[in-house]
Amino acid sequence: MTYAQIVGWGYAVPSRIMTNSDIEQLVDTSDEWIRTRTGISERRIAGPKESTSTLATRAAQNALQVADLSPSKVDLVIVATSTPDFPMPSVASIVQDNIGAARAGAFDVNAACSGFIYALSVASGMIAGGLHENVLVIGADTLSRLVDWTDRSTCILFGDGAGAVLLRRSESPTGLRSCVLGSDGSGVGSLYVPAGGSRTPITAEQVQARQHFIKMKGGEVFRFAVHAIAQATQQAVQSAGMTMDDVDLFIPHQANIRIIQSAAKALKIPPEKVFSNVNRYGNTSTASIPIALCEAIEAGKVSVGSNLALVGFGAGLAWGAAIVQWGVDATPMPFAWWKSMVRNIQSREAVVRSFALRTQRRIDALRRVNGIHGV
Ligand SMILES: CC(C)(COP(=O)(O)OP(=O)(O)OC[C@H]1O[C@@H](n2cnc3c(N)ncnc32)[C@H](O)[C@@H]1OP(=O)(O)O)[C@@H](O)C(=O)NCCC(=O)NCCS
Repeated sequence: MTYAQIVGWGYAVPSRIMTNSDIEQLVDTSDEWIRTRTGISERRIAGPKESTSTLATRAAQNALQVADLSPSKVDLVIVATSTPDFPMPSVASIVQDNIGAARAGAFDVNAACSGFIYALSVASGMIAGGLHENVLVIGADTLSRLVDWTDRSTCILFGDGAGAVLLRRSESPTGLRSCVLGSDGSGVGSLYVPAGGSRTPITAEQVQARQHFIKMKGGEVFRFAVHAIAQATQQAVQSAGMTMDDVDLFIPHQANIRIIQSAAKALKIPPEKVFSNVNRYGNTSTASIPIALCEAIEAGKVSVGSNLALVGFGAGLAWGAAIVQWGVDATPMPFAWWKSMVRNIQSREAVVRSFALRTQRRIDALRRVNGIHGV
């Protein structure tokens, strides 16, 4: 049998911190209200030069460094996102170029906040099916760009970030042990961005009516989330041939501490097995699970043989749960100066490669124009 083992991990968040007091300056709310209703104290907001692809690129580079893998060995880049840099092309193609993964394919997956679980299952299936050896799976979003900063029921919730894992083909029975994916598209109106897609293109009127921002029915989403997490996690645990007691760490999508606690209670998972960092990042959408995974590793909560229950939910409405058996030593390696030198060289190579390809394309275009003129 072939398995897809997680051998690299990394994350990236913007340096700009927006606290609850900062939000108090924008809308009628309070730090106390936000903390007690959501558990969020602060979130990271992308700066003008940052975007989903820049965060995804940094997370990917960090994951490659942990995996000690050259970008040229990456076969496929999958980015889960619902805030791509452009409607097309994919963020994955931009990341593939940025990191210099010269022979990799690239595509995006959109399953909103559950996207990372969907991308993980696609990548694991491709590796298990023998199609690829090394696949980068990235969850990255900049929901701050879709937030209406005059709507106090949504602007308090979201933040920006990216998390990545590198999956490698392995004979050892680790990695994804089971996966449950689900969708209830009748709930599309519970959480969505009305304008900006093919149904309602952006016009001045749509912008005037603030239809290009996130609209959410908070209570509906809350009830859906608690139910979806509990049901999907139970199904994934059963399908892995385990019981809830076998789960060593529960890493749910970080949307709201009350959702996480209610779901953990329904699943009878004790608080010490629940990982949460929602207080520092808010809801980073599809990035939240891989960022939380990285921080759980940093906190020494993940070791060889650990069974992790990862569960996502969100717009769609869609959800996904995965049981991952950890297979590699996650102890931080001592800093090696030469490794960071190699990484610097690799990222410079990627920049030069991209520049050379773009220049070649311009030269070809000029030649063609001259050829046509010459006819
Ligand atoms: C959004 C959410 C925090 C609201 O909490 P809630 O306890 O359900 O609050 P309600 O929506 O019932 O609103 C209660 C009151 O607080 C007010 N309120 C809403 N946002 C507020 C804010 N930021 N500050 C102060 N008051 C606020 C409402 O206007 C309402 O006032 P009213 O009773 O006078 O009408 C909660 O519903 C939630 O977290 N839902 C899930 C959202 C989510 O996770 N989405 C992403 C999924 S991926």
